[in-house]
Amino acid sequence: KKSLYSLYKGVYVPSNLHHPQSLQNYEDFTFRRDDVIIVTYPKSGTTWMKEIVPLVVSRGDPASVETLQNWDRVPWLEENRAWDLELENRPSPRIFATHFHYNMMPQGFFKVKPKVIYVMRNPKDVFTSSFHYYGIASFLVHPGSQGEFLQKFLDGKVMFGSWFDHVKGWLNAEDKERIMYISYEEMIMDLKDSVTRIAQFLEKPLESEVIEKIAECCLFKNMKQNKMSNYSAAPREFLDQRKSEFLRKGIAGDWKNQLTSDEAEYFDSVYKVTMKDVMYKFIWD
Ligand code: PPS
Repeated sequence: KKSLYSLYKGVYVPSNLHHPQSLQNYEDFTFRRDDVIIVTYPKSGTTWMKEIVPLVVSRGDPASVETLQNWDRVPWLEENRAWDLELENRPSPRIFATHFHYNMMPQGFFKVKPKVIYVMRNPKDVFTSSFHYYGIASFLVHPGSQGEFLQKFLDGKVMFGSWFDHVKGWLNAEDKERIMYISYEEMIMDLKDSVTRIAQFLEKPLESEVIEKIAECCLFKNMKQNKMSNYSAAPREFLDQRKSEFLRKGIAGDWKNQLTSDEAEYFDSVYKVTMKDVMYKFIWD
């Protein structure tokens, strides 16, 4: 049986979505200085940001979130489908997403330094969201038992490798004035404030009514109703959402319902050792 993952620059990527040619196209891609790249470890808030950033850029005009599937609206640059979208013809500012680690980014990225929005989430919730997602996605290795998946997650033997490496790499990035760091939990706590800060970072100051409209549109319950954002258009053989929906719970702290106390303790002990040199103050610590 063909392997579901291939190794690219040291991390697993799902082979079905990332053909060698697609990865090469990304490597050769011509960035623009005013591109906006949403960067995440999987299950950290990518889909949410793919709703917010286009609305900020359009100053609240909902056309793109009402007519374009989020994977076309904000394509993942590493994925096969990006390269049918004629990205070079898109008007600035273009908005893209990537799950790449900092040290995997293509040369052109370091030369041009487009803007980056890096979204982080409590890794125990990333684990929880991933555990459900790996159970419904046919292009991912089945998670196995929760205990097995926990060990794979902590070892980085999952798609896009280790959460710890991903976060540490992007926190140590150069040219930090081009990077906005934000967490899923901050967005849960105060979405209007998060939208305001994103608008500032993108130099699109917005009136408070517009901010409010955008935040409303991006609430979990409203995104769940948007067929362009809720993944209902994804084929069942690809994502079987009868078992668990892509927009599953949308809360902070669901790990408390998922991990046993022993598992949580083990997670924390690995986290403590692996993150000991990181100075960044995470909202979940
Ligand atoms: S992916 O596969 O990497 O693109 O997944 P990603 O979009 O990064 O993460 C999916 C989780 O984000 C939740 N989500 C939201 N939470 C709150 N509000 C809004 N609007 C929202 N949109 C997406 C989604 O439900 C997944 O988390 P869980 O914990 O599984 O519900």
